[in-house]
Amino acid sequence: MSGQELLKKLSEKGCSFLGTRYPLIGGAMASISNHQLISSMANAGIFGFLAAGFLSPEGLREEIRKTKEKTAKPFGVNLIILHPELKGLMDVCIEEKISHVILASGVPSPEMISKLKEGGIKVLSFAPALAIAKRLVKSGIDALVIEGSESGGHIGPVSSLVLMQEILPYVKEVPIFVAGGIGSGMMIAMSLVLGAAGCQMGTVFVGSTESPVHENFKKAIYRASSRHAVQTTQMSPVFPVIPVRSLENKAHEKFSLHQKQVIERYEKGELSLEEARIQIEQFWAGSLRKAVCEGDVDNGSVMAGQIVGLVKKEETIGQTVERLVDETKKTLENMQRMLK
Ligand SMILES: Cc1cc2nc3c(=O)[nH]c(=O)nc-3n(C[C@H](O)[C@H](O)[C@H](O)COP(=O)(O)O)c2cc1C
Repeated sequence: MSGQELLKKLSEKGCSFLGTRYPLIGGAMASISNHQLISSMANAGIFGFLAAGFLSPEGLREEIRKTKEKTAKPFGVNLIILHPELKGLMDVCIEEKISHVILASGVPSPEMISKLKEGGIKVLSFAPALAIAKRLVKSGIDALVIEGSESGGHIGPVSSLVLMQEILPYVKEVPIFVAGGIGSGMMIAMSLVLGAAGCQMGTVFVGSTESPVHENFKKAIYRASSRHAVQTTQMSPVFPVIPVRSLENKAHEKFSLHQKQVIERYEKGELSLEEARIQIEQFWAGSLRKAVCEGDVDNGSVMAGQIVGLVKKEETIGQTVERLVDETKKTLENMQRMLK
């Protein structure tokens, strides 16, 4: 079989679930995945998720409508479970006839899943462990994303390779998309051969021509190697830090110092445990926007995954997708040749 035929065969499940040409997802990136980026992904044959982030329901409606003006192809919405107006955001997705919603930042309840499904929406979520994947399947989830700790943004503790072995052989009821550390057709081919329905990526698209991030953010991405994408450091188990992967910069140093100072003030009795925890938590508030919108890549959070080392120059979304697809086909052809 040709690489094209092999890819077509292995992509059937993912493409029919997503309604796309390729079984690839552009993962939502807060403050970045807007109508411009998502419509470009849809027009390039992959599935993008708009990041609802902390948009109001009407703000989300506007973003959905702007996306629809630029593409007739399917796209989805990423909703944060903890959003205070989650119900209103879900209603907007239903009213605007969004085909797929991914519920992020926690494990969604069966009620959240069934509300969206009753509204005609396919619902996805993240499964950071096998037990959670099984629970989500029981709750009626339509597909899962397993995202390893290599990824950019908020991360779990386990790598993609381990999650794939833990989850792919044991959950056959729904399509599973692999995320975290994917930036070449080699990994896409491997994921498909191992039974994934497709792959979700963020870092390979964040520096694209259509990405709305500041020029400084793009340059920082092209310059970085994999080891520069580090996770936030936690100074004390008493003060847990939500792990986020971003490029090493002054903000990381300042965060360690900030934690040290807050912990000292807590130990001297100048701050209560609650006050100290809040002060540590609030350090990164608004820092992604600082890097994305103002271009302050020293003091902001330049979220990126370890695969950033493979992103060396600006490409359009279309160019990246075509390159990934070509590499996938070539890898599949090589695998076939080796197995003959
Ligand atoms: C800058 C940036 C922001 C992100 N923001 C979000 C987000 O708001 N919600 C979410 O579910 N995932 C978010 N992610 C994760 C991506 O959707 C995607 O799953 C991840 O980037 C895949 O791993 P990779 O970075 O190795 O490609 C973000 C990733 C990056 C790089």
